[in-house]
Amino acid sequence: MAVMLNTERLLLRPWLEADREPFRRMNTDPRVMEFFPKMLSSEESDQLFERIQRHFDEHGFGFWAAELRQDQSFVGFVGLAVPRFEAHFMPAVEIGWRLRAEAWGRGLATEGARAALRYGFATLGLDAIVSFTVPANRRSRRVMEKLGMTHDERDDFDHPLLPEGHSLRRHVLYRIDRRRHSSQHSALPPPHSCRASAAAIVSSTRNWYEFWREFAGVWARRIRL
Ligand SMILES: CC(C)(COP(=O)(O)OP(=O)(O)OC[C@H]1O[C@@H](n2cnc3c(N)ncnc32)[C@H](O)[C@@H]1OP(=O)(O)O)[C@@H](O)C(=O)NCCC(=O)NCCS
Repeated sequence: MAVMLNTERLLLRPWLEADREPFRRMNTDPRVMEFFPKMLSSEESDQLFERIQRHFDEHGFGFWAAELRQDQSFVGFVGLAVPRFEAHFMPAVEIGWRLRAEAWGRGLATEGARAALRYGFATLGLDAIVSFTVPANRRSRRVMEKLGMTHDERDDFDHPLLPEGHSLRRHVLYRIDRRRHSSQHSALPPPHSCRASAAAIVSSTRNWYEFWREFAGVWARRIRL
């Protein structure tokens, strides 16, 4: 059964034939393709479209088509994939994104990627997820950082599918592992548990004792001044 992920504003879903055309337009936008070796012709865009479908057939997950829930428009893709090359961090699953420029700057990539990360850890049971880009792609790196991914420059690598001397060959690698991901999620208070947490603090004699001691100390210091 096809997997779909819902977020507040996005539906990450299997690709439709109707996505081909907006996908082609996105892949010929110089803003979107700034950090890729070239813009894609219609044929190349279609080949990528089909490669993404084959990846779903082979692995059961992939780069989902991202649709705005508000008006069902295609805005790009977000998802998980197995890179097609060998590198020091392989085997690995990467998280990746590409959105129409009109959709940028509203937190959509991060929102979709959070759902994909959760799916990767909670449903696929992955131990770690990586992401990579060229050093100059600050937008994409910012998404990685907002997801809690970390960068160690000792992991940086030359992309083996680009020839030596190519200006985009050097790549930065970001990682997040299951433990870091779950620690970040348990740190976020689930909305329905706020009341319970407040009650736990109020009923803790030790917290009250420390609070009053601190409070009294501050006033004692002020009075002395
Ligand atoms: C990367 C991309 C998916 C981000 O999409 P998005 O929905 O705009 O991302 P978000 O809004 O979730 O986050 C973008 C962050 O980058 C920041 N940003 C934007 N332009 C920036 C710049 N020039 N330098 C540094 N940070 C920048 C934003 O302010 C935001 O961070 P903030 O929330 O802390 O303010 C989108 O720019 C894109 O499709 N780029 C082209 C394709 C691409 O490069 N894909 C990645 C290949 S690895």
